[in-house]
Amino acid sequence: MPTASTRRTRHIGLSLGADICWPIAFEEILRNAKLELRIGKEVVDFACERVAIQPFELGAGCKYDVVVDRLTHWFTLQREWIKKAVLMDGLYVYNNPWSVQSYTKHSSYCAMIALGMPVPKTLMLPQKSYEPKDDLDYTLRAYARMFDLGEIGRSVGYPSFMKPYDGGGWQGVSRADDEAGLRDAYEHSDRYLMHVQKAVDGSDLFVRAIGIGPQVRIIKYVAENPLHERYTTERGFCSAADERTMVDTCLTINTFFGWDFNSCEALRRDGVFYPIDFANPCPDSQINSIHYHWPWYLTSNLKWAVFTAATGRAMPRNLDFTPYYAIAKQDIPYSEKLKGYARIARERLQADEFDAFCKKHLRPLEEAANAWYRSDRLMEAARRKVAHLFPAHEVDEFTERFVALVRQSVDDMEKESKS
Ligand SMILES: Nc1ncnc2c1ncn2[C@@H]1O[C@H](COP(=O)(O)OP(=O)(O)O)[C@@H](O)[C@H]1O
Ligand SMILES: [Mg+2]
Repeated sequence: MPTASTRRTRHIGLSLGADICWPIAFEEILRNAKLELRIGKEVVDFACERVAIQPFELGAGCKYDVVVDRLTHWFTLQREWIKKAVLMDGLYVYNNPWSVQSYTKHSSYCAMIALGMPVPKTLMLPQKSYEPKDDLDYTLRAYARMFDLGEIGRSVGYPSFMKPYDGGGWQGVSRADDEAGLRDAYEHSDRYLMHVQKAVDGSDLFVRAIGIGPQVRIIKYVAENPLHERYTTERGFCSAADERTMVDTCLTINTFFGWDFNSCEALRRDGVFYPIDFANPCPDSQINSIHYHWPWYLTSNLKWAVFTAATGRAMPRNLDFTPYYAIAKQDIPYSEKLKGYARIARERLQADEFDAFCKKHLRPLEEAANAWYRSDRLMEAARRKVAHLFPAHEVDEFTERFVALVRQSVDDMEKESKS
């Protein structure tokens, strides 16, 4: 039996907004798993709690080893608390809050184009209108140049998409099939800073690659469907080579920007994946949209949180782009570059250590997770989320539908792992 002096509790914090369903599962599964991991000379167990929004003293220390953060992108106090805990207290957080704050869709396009990724041709336009400021008038009169949107439209080609440079949730996104459509989109763009991007027209597959640490899941997505049917349940819809490309693309993006948890959208045309939206460092994790994939998200999230907490994984405080650019400038095909980027990514994410750790320590966590998904607790957590979003008369029907998809997925994953 371990002595008292060799015991250690690692603290996992959940920094949450309206994440109703998955945190319930996260906490209960972790508790039910009763992990006691022998790490070196210590026996490590885990405590999990939700991070409160409250005043904090800058020098006050931080009890958490790891924080899973879902607030940084819009809640300033929490973001700044996280920054202080990384800078002062050695906190590991996913995702890197500086990177979430500053690497928008636009800058993620720029960096990945520089690495050779086939992002469709994209142009940035000056804003249609601006928030009034003292110096605005002078600045625009002196420096704003007239431009011809028609010419820009022709240079990008149609159809094209006009969308905010730092967008999310499809806000302000519109498709233009001709010059009139493009002009109309610009007229309505108001204070949004916009891109015009060539559409990946005639694509035969839309995928989302979700990365949680070194774990990646490729999901077929149908953007035209209602929200709860966009993430399809199809598996095996692309070749192993295609899957490798998307896994490597996702890991490259995530490690370049210091995002442990991110989603990358890409459209395939003529066998090439064109990434179109990959700065999503707070991916949708709600049972009503990802349903069938929800248990993969949760179990993967738990495994990565436990691994980072148990091993004291160091938070990379700086992003280091240099090795990626060193590969980018080599005279080799993009497919070879991508393999090189992915090697850096796997190393940074300790992919091999993580695999070995899971095999050695995390079987009880997986078992506790699968038992939870099959328990009434899933029904309760799902119902809470569904009741928050759906009209009362639809709550039963949709709760049951999502629960059935989760359980189907757990059965499928168990079969997969045995085969
Ligand atoms: N270049 C493009 N080609 C084809 N479809 C696109 C393109 N850009 C955006 N879309 C469509 O518009 C949706 C929203 O655009 P996206 O860049 O993902 O914005 P958001 O960050 O708001 O999710 C995408 O999911 C896709 O369906
Ligand atoms: Mg998107």
